Amino acid sequence: MRADVLSETVATLRAAGCVAAEEEAEELMAVAGARGGLLNELVERRCRGEPLAWLTGSVRFCGEPVHLRRGVYVPRWQSEPLALEAARRLPDHGVAVDLCTGSGAIARVLSRHRPRARVLATELDPVAAGCARENGVEVHEGDLDGPLPAELWAAVDVVCGVVPYVPTGALHLLARDVVAYEPTLALDGGPEGMDVLVRAVSGGSRLLRRGGSLLLELGAGQAELLAGELRRTGYSPAELLHDEEGDLRGIAAVFVAAPSRA
Ligand SMILES: C[S@@+](CC[C@H](N)C(=O)[O-])C[C@H]1O[C@@H](n2cnc3c(N)ncnc32)[C@H](O)[C@@H]1O
Repeated sequence: MRADVLSETVATLRAAGCVAAEEEAEELMAVAGARGGLLNELVERRCRGEPLAWLTGSVRFCGEPVHLRRGVYVPRWQSEPLALEAARRLPDHGVAVDLCTGSGAIARVLSRHRPRARVLATELDPVAAGCARENGVEVHEGDLDGPLPAELWAAVDVVCGVVPYVPTGALHLLARDVVAYEPTLALDGGPEGMDVLVRAVSGGSRLLRRGGSLLLELGAGQAELLAGELRRTGYSPAELLHDEEGDLRGIAAVFVAAPSRA
């Protein structure tokens, strides 16, 4: 009986274009349990392109499950090296801020790797902020570094962020399901994709102590566009971060001193 349901579910998902139909069928069946009606509904929603992680309520990031609410950006494996590099740069008893935390996946990696550090996060979308709280993250709701207490200024060791950085005009080039389902607020970085990145650089310079690190995910050509802003706000030249496939995924820059703080 279970084998029949499984093969039927796999066939339906495969026909809808799911590349990992077997794994997805197993996951959806585990969520539905004995509720056949629920399984049908989940399979239908998956076939329409809804992210698997919203249907199962969880996704793995850096090897650990992260709880995910419907409507919240799904953390990507491409962001894992940035999270691990941020953790590497965070001292044992240090302070880190994850800007634009979404579900809180990166903040969780920081806390797991540095359990004695203080890890805070910010998020504009109340649904995502609620999800991050459910993941045990200390979230301050609001725009970038804006909602954080002033006691953190010039006191933070690591600021990181996977902020929205897709150029508005390129949003339609993303995978069809991403465009259809994932929130534009999580993706749209303005005309060149640089709007939030540039503001994150200045937010970082308010928060970081001298010698602290800023790590930001970005897309092709954006590291060059950000270089001048980094220099002007007091950072050393950025180190480029690549993913496992060798693609450029982010930058890491050390805060030396803003001109006004020099
Ligand atoms: C690309 S998602 C990344 C989420 C998370 N860091 C991750 O990797 O899974 C960007 C997130 O930034 C949030 N966001 C967008 N603009 C923001 C802003 N100005 N201040 C704080 N959060 C913002 C979005 O709601 C979204 O959750």
